[in-house]
Amino acid sequence: EETELAEIHRFAVQLAKDAGQMLLAAVELRAGKTVREGHVEKESAVDLVTQTDEDVEAFIRSSIQAKYPSHAFCGEESYSKGGSKMYLIPPTGPAWCVDPLDGTVNFIHLCPFYCVSIAFTWNGEPMIGAINAPFLRQLFTACRGQGAWLNETISLPLDRSPIPPLPESAPKGCIFSCEWGKDRRDVPNGNLHRKVNSFMNMAAELGGRDGKGGHVHGVRSLGSATLDLAYCAMGSFDIWWEGGCWEWDVAAGICLLKEAGGLVTSANPPNDPSTAPVLDAHLGSRLYLALRPAGDSATETGRQTQ
Ligand code: IPD
Repeated sequence: EETELAEIHRFAVQLAKDAGQMLLAAVELRAGKTVREGHVEKESAVDLVTQTDEDVEAFIRSSIQAKYPSHAFCGEESYSKGGSKMYLIPPTGPAWCVDPLDGTVNFIHLCPFYCVSIAFTWNGEPMIGAINAPFLRQLFTACRGQGAWLNETISLPLDRSPIPPLPESAPKGCIFSCEWGKDRRDVPNGNLHRKVNSFMNMAAELGGRDGKGGHVHGVRSLGSATLDLAYCAMGSFDIWWEGGCWEWDVAAGICLLKEAGGLVTSANPPNDPSTAPVLDAHLGSRLYLALRPAGDSATETGRQTQ
């Protein structure tokens, strides 16, 4: 079984490399032109899809189907088209969960923080993660029980093993990151409000309550949930959270972060009936929170970040 996992890992990494080349080629085609890649709005004005998202997903899906015809597949663009939960990670057996282009808005704007994210899951749990950010030349890979790497040779977290715990005084001294998601409905206590509040609270800590600074070291928002998780796995970010992202945004990143010794937890009450997907069964909800472990109080620290 271990040899089989190693073989699937090799296959996933090669797929991420090939898909990364497709992303780069799509950017090169636009070189020297002033046009942004054409895109179509999905559920909101910021929920965008390009031809590249679709082409890369079709390539990954057909490659997986050719090699592992019995494995289930769930991908962002297949889901959007089918509009059915059947495309989410199944609770049993082998499956692949793919975001062909995480950070589509960045990609359209030629901002380099975008990547392809490929996860292999078994019984709903991410076992393998392969994330390629080709413009950044960063390839992140992880295999359950084996570790996590940058560019296949550098073990994560970077030069720190194991990942150091959050300081007792967290978020003082931390780099905090958060994504904005696509749900931009401006309703009281909605996703957007919670994010803005969380971000503003953290930003307020930049100056420290006494105005002397030095509390939160930095507040970041890369525009790719996958890369936020990868940067937590590197040990570069200390805390990340987002409400409302999907399995394909986080499945590979969760594998990476866990292998690097980080913690992924839910910030919602367990068994929240409003959040059904399979990863939620493992993590508690679709409101993901990633952070460095902080001894016994890690989960509580996470929840308080809310
Ligand atoms: C999105 C990005 C974004 C996050 C959204 C994701 P996409 O993925 O990761 O940062 O806030 O929740 O859906 O659409 O670029 O693949």
